[in-house]
Amino acid sequence: MEKQQRIIQMFNDISPTYDRLNRILSFGVDRRWRRNGCLAALKAHGRPVKHLVDVATGTGDLILFWREAGKASGTPIERATGLDPAIGMLTLARRKVKNADFQEAQANALPLEDNSADMVSISYGIRNVVDVDGALKEFHRVLEPGGHVLILEFMSHPESTLMDRMSRLYMNKVLPKVGAMISKDNQAYTYLPESIQAFFSTEQLVEKLATAGFEIVQVKDDTFGISTRFIARKPG
Ligand SMILES: C[S@@+](CC[C@H](N)C(=O)[O-])C[C@H]1O[C@@H](n2cnc3c(N)ncnc32)[C@H](O)[C@@H]1O
Repeated sequence: MEKQQRIIQMFNDISPTYDRLNRILSFGVDRRWRRNGCLAALKAHGRPVKHLVDVATGTGDLILFWREAGKASGTPIERATGLDPAIGMLTLARRKVKNADFQEAQANALPLEDNSADMVSISYGIRNVVDVDGALKEFHRVLEPGGHVLILEFMSHPESTLMDRMSRLYMNKVLPKVGAMISKDNQAYTYLPESIQAFFSTEQLVEKLATAGFEIVQVKDDTFGISTRFIARKPG
């Protein structure tokens, strides 16, 4: 099986315990990262979102945060589409998130028209996409001019502060054990720290966004850089 298919299969396998583990492993802090990311992107957008496309949506969690942030900021989300290649995740998303359209798709081949969205998001998903350049090109294609993209991701930090070392220790030693215990999958939560180490640096991802045609609006670390938010805009 090729690498991308193996990753998708792995997410299918862990989908039943995915939401519960997310909350346990991040001590619930991921809620704040998601909420703050959505609020910051809505502030940059400055108007209601006509069509939100959440790529690598998983169980659709981020769409719920988008809606909550939309209400809080007075810039509501009028329509939402969630895309993911793992059917197991989509089944849960359809049960959990009402009034959204969920479709099976990979990030580098979005089943959407050019300029058909004004907000694209991907939370903790871009690291799992083998063809990142292809995905960013697709985000740019489906966004209308003036539209925004929000990326939330765990980035590795080459400079080694005490906090970096502690979070690496947690990711490498504690998280795989707890993950394996609850999901009954020995591989999946070893893959997480490995994929973070193997992924691009913040600077490289910023460069890729610029190459895809985006203007960078904000790059911000949350909780000592464990999670990083990228907000970019399609010019026009
Ligand atoms: C860590 S989960 C994140 C899910 C959700 N966005 C969240 O914040 O909880 C990563 C998701 O990426 C999806 N994925 C894997 N490869 C992908 C690809 N090539 N294109 C789009 N999504 C992909 C997986 O199926 C999985 O649902």
